[in-house]
Amino acid sequence: MSTAFFKKSGSTSDRLVDIHRATRFTHPDVNRIAIALYDSKTDRLRTFAHSSEGRHPLDNYQAVLSEVPSLKVLADRGDVRAVDNLSELAGPGSGRHTQAIGEEYRSSLTVPFYKGEAFAGFVFFNSRTRGYFTRDRCQALSLAAEVVNALVMETLKPVEMLSNSIGVAKDISHYRDEETGAHLDRVANYASLIAQHLADQEELDDEFIQMLFLFAPLHDLGKVAIPDNVLLKPDKLNQEELRIMRTHPDKGVEICDRLLDSMGFVSARQGRMLRNIIHYHHEAWDGSGYPSGLTRQNIPLEAAIVAVADVFDALTSARPYKNAWTTDAACDFLAQNAGGKFNPDCVAVFLDHREEVEMIQRRFGDGQHEVRRTNWVQSSLSRTG
Ligand code: C2E
Ligand code: SIN
Ligand code: SIN
Ligand code: FE
Ligand code: FE
Repeated sequence: MSTAFFKKSGSTSDRLVDIHRATRFTHPDVNRIAIALYDSKTDRLRTFAHSSEGRHPLDNYQAVLSEVPSLKVLADRGDVRAVDNLSELAGPGSGRHTQAIGEEYRSSLTVPFYKGEAFAGFVFFNSRTRGYFTRDRCQALSLAAEVVNALVMETLKPVEMLSNSIGVAKDISHYRDEETGAHLDRVANYASLIAQHLADQEELDDEFIQMLFLFAPLHDLGKVAIPDNVLLKPDKLNQEELRIMRTHPDKGVEICDRLLDSMGFVSARQGRMLRNIIHYHHEAWDGSGYPSGLTRQNIPLEAAIVAVADVFDALTSARPYKNAWTTDAACDFLAQNAGGKFNPDCVAVFLDHREEVEMIQRRFGDGQHEVRRTNWVQSSLSRTG
C-alpha cells in the first residue's frame, strides 16, 4: 500500500487516486478530490486531475476566475471554504459545473494554493454527506491538501525546467528573434481549444489538455539546431534550404530526449506527449507530411492538434518573407485541407469555434501590422533610393 505513494510513472490522476485512497482511511466520506490550475494570462481555471467515485467524472471544468466571484474571493484572500449544503451553492444563478457537482455531492471543501505569492489553483474535496466538512475535519484535511499541492508542483516543475532550458537554447541560437511570445501563446491556446472540444469524442482527460497547453509552444524546439543563414533568411527558402529546415522535427526529438534523460523525473506519459508533439507536428493525415509520412490515426492526436494550431497561426502571422493571411483565408485553407493535410476532426472543432479563435487572436495579438509596414517602408525606400 505505502509503495503507491512512490509510484513515479503514473499519471497525476493515478497518483491523486492513491492520495484519495489514503485520505479515506481517516475520512471515509470524502468521495471526490479534484485539482484545478489557474492560468493568470487568460484568468482561466481548468481542472487538471480528479479522483471521483461518482457516476459522472465531472472533468473538463473551465471558468474565467473573475466571473466566479465566490472562488475569486478565496483566491484573493487565501481563505478555505467549507460548504455544508451544496444545493444552496448550486442555485439557479450558478454555472453548469457547479450544478452538476451539486447533483452528485452534498458538501464541499475548497482550498486555494499558491506558487510563492501567486495564486496557482484549487484543491476541491467533495462528500455525499451533508455538512461533512466540519472545522476539525477541515484541519485534518489540510494535510491532504498539502500533499496534493506538492503533487501538482512536482508535476509542473519538470515542465517549467524544460521550458527554461529550451528558452536558453533559443537565446543562444537567435531562434527567439523570429518567434515571439505571442505566437507561442496563441499556438498553446488554439491547441487547447481544439482538445477541449474533442474531449468527449476522443475521451481526453484534463491532464492531456493541460499538458498539451504547456507543451504545444515547444513544438519547434529543433529549430535551435538549424543554421542561422537558413533559420533567419528574410526571403523564400530554396529547395535545399527547405530540406535543411525540415530536419527540425528529428533534431528536436534528439534534443528533447537528452533533456528528458538529464531530468529523469518527467512521467512517462508527459515525456511521450512532448516527444510526439516535437516529432510529428508536420505529419499529414494523407501521409504527405514529414519526417515519417505517418497516416491518419497513426499520427498521435496531440501532434495532429498542434499541426492545425501551428499552421493556422503561421498563416495569419506576418513573417519577413510573407504577409499575414486574413482569418477568413486561413480558415478556408484549413477547410480545404481537412482530411488531406489535416485531421478532419481537429479542423471541424476549430472552425466550429471561430469566436473563441478570434478571442485568442485579440488577446495575444503581436503588432503584425507594424512588421508589415516596416517591410513596406524599407522596400519602397530602396526602390526610390
Ligand atoms: P512555420 O513558419 O512555423 O510554419 C509552419 C507550417 O505552416 C509550415 O510548415 C507550412 O505547413 C505552413 N505555412 C506557413 N506559411 C505558409 C504559407 O505561406 N503558405 C502555406 N501554404 N503554408 C504555410 P513547413 O512548410 O514545413 O515549414 C516549416 C518551417 O520552415 C516554417 O515554420 C518556417 O520556419 C520555415 N519556412 C518555411 N518556408 C519558408 C520560407 O519561404 N522562408 C523562410 N525564411 N522560412 C520558411
Ligand atoms: C461557482 O462555483 O460558483 C460557479 C462555477 C461554475 O461555473 O460552474
Ligand atoms: C469543482 O469542484 O471541480 C468545481 C468547483 C466548484 O464549482 O465548486
Ligand atoms: Fe515545425
Ligand atoms: Fe511553429
